[in-house]
Amino acid sequence: MNIEEWDEYKDFIKAIEEKNATISENPVLKSVATYIFNTSGKKLRPLIIMLSAKACSGDHKRAIDASLAVEAIHTASLVHDDILDEGTTRRNMPSVHEKYNVMAAILCGDFLISKSIQWISSYGEKVVWDFGRSGYLLCEGEVMDSMIERGQMSVEQYTECIYKKTAALFEISARIGSRIGAGDNEKVVDAFGLYGKELGMAYQITDDLLEEFDIYEDKESGILSDSLFSIYARTMSKSEAAKKTVKIVEGHLLEAKKALDCVKNSDAKDKLLYLTDYVNTLLDNIRTSDILKA
Ligand code: FPP
Ligand code: MG
Repeated sequence: MNIEEWDEYKDFIKAIEEKNATISENPVLKSVATYIFNTSGKKLRPLIIMLSAKACSGDHKRAIDASLAVEAIHTASLVHDDILDEGTTRRNMPSVHEKYNVMAAILCGDFLISKSIQWISSYGEKVVWDFGRSGYLLCEGEVMDSMIERGQMSVEQYTECIYKKTAALFEISARIGSRIGAGDNEKVVDAFGLYGKELGMAYQITDDLLEEFDIYEDKESGILSDSLFSIYARTMSKSEAAKKTVKIVEGHLLEAKKALDCVKNSDAKDKLLYLTDYVNTLLDNIRTSDILKA
């Protein structure tokens, strides 16, 4: 499967281009916001929303504004994170504060958060409530990440931190999408939330693991936080720590797949399952590297 060929992906890219054309009357904000709120990146969260809506018998086009909202708050969080982390590149381009300046980056983040509130506002109270929750959890996760020095985080703190920093937005994306499709069927919404949460945990643990081994080329961070691998590696060999980390990710991916048993098979469900395979494939960078042999 090639994600970029999916209708949901193509429709989302078109929607970003349309929104960006008139995103602000202010030329400075328009330039800064469109620099980062663009068509690059994997668009995992918007895909989760649109595919969850479709897997629950909805129309993914009804979920596009919600997808834009989640992508906008996610982008805002990365712009602010790059200031805090001293990140110099993101998605193969200079980070916003590097290209412009810190003031522009703070305001660009604030601007995108405000846009996201507009775009989510028409979906009703339950969706907006979940969306607000994702925002404050992002902040709580980032505070933990910024305040606990590398070498000091426990497994429990790491798990809480990445749930709040990453997995909660995946969880809420799946909840929002399934609610758009299935209405207020809370059992289904909770099951999709579990899918998103487990996928998000797997994604962030993998992302942190790949960063430990410098496997990414599209971003550079100045400050490296603890990862599950670095915590394990305090008390065991690097190869054992990497193996244990890979096992934990595989467990989360299995739970994510199981959570989708609540809906019948469909093209959209296959694509959601494929997103778990996509994260699994990222682990091949570790499985095939010398680190596991040491
Ligand atoms: C990237 O983590 C950062 C996040 C996933 C969340 C950042 C959150 C904030 C700055 C709070 C802002 C809140 C709102 C509502 C916008 P990372 O540094 O581990 O990943 P990276 O390597 O991609 O930078
Ligand atoms: Mg960062």
